[in-house]
Amino acid sequence: MSGRWWGSSGRHPGWPTRLGPVVTAAGQVTLRGVRLRDARTWSALRIKNQNTLIPWEPTGHGDWRARHHPSAWPSLHSVLRREATAGTMLPLVIEVNGTFAGQLTIGNIQRGALRNAWIGYWVDADMTGRGVATAAVALAVDHCFGPVGLHRLEATVQPANAASKAVLRKVGFRQEGLLERYMDIDSGWRDHLLFALTTEEIVGTAVDTLIRAGRLTLPGR
Ligand code: ACO
Repeated sequence: MSGRWWGSSGRHPGWPTRLGPVVTAAGQVTLRGVRLRDARTWSALRIKNQNTLIPWEPTGHGDWRARHHPSAWPSLHSVLRREATAGTMLPLVIEVNGTFAGQLTIGNIQRGALRNAWIGYWVDADMTGRGVATAAVALAVDHCFGPVGLHRLEATVQPANAASKAVLRKVGFRQEGLLERYMDIDSGWRDHLLFALTTEEIVGTAVDTLIRAGRLTLPGR
């Protein structure tokens, strides 16, 4: 049941959107849709973070720098925007204090009896370890379980990716199993752990849970 879907409003529910801010040790974290004018910032950060991203990201064709040249962004951006308009994806930029600091994507949005999607993310290495990804995932979870109308979110993580597993656990995702030789990453078929979260497991909102745990605040509090 994937593909084009609109709510009763006649639009993809939850898109376009701007989420947050919430306050972390790094500053104010917000999520917004990708923009055509992100080309240079996206390119600079992706090239700078090549070594920290390659071990965890799907294998791509061709040289990293060429794939992440600013000229590669318009076609990628148009694919992402098309999927967003069709209701199958939420391609979001993570901003810290108004500056592009990473990306968070909700993909393969399925409707009907599943109401499920996957979540993936990356954060600039200069910004890590200060709660940015956790805040971004919590904002996205609340959006998906609220306006977007999903029931379940899934995340697949390599067993060695301790930081990503920590992010998911902090927001409430639970480990469901091991997917053997699941995805082609860094030119090899890598096992992945399957994490998931359903609406029943959230008490209040994911952001509330992190506020109660002392991991986030709201601006002005
Ligand atoms: N062992 C154990 N815990 C670790 C380690 C480690 N080696 N490294 C970091 N952590 C913990 C941190 O201590 C922190 O937990 P804490 O708040 O309890 O101390 C947690 O991991 C990280 O939380 P955040 O600060 O919210 O996350 P951050 O903003 O640093 O971003 C991310 C984490 C997204 C994984 C970043 O490191 C990154 O972009 N990595 C490269 C790309 C990547 O791996 N993306 C995720 C792929 S899997 C997926 O998308 C579902």
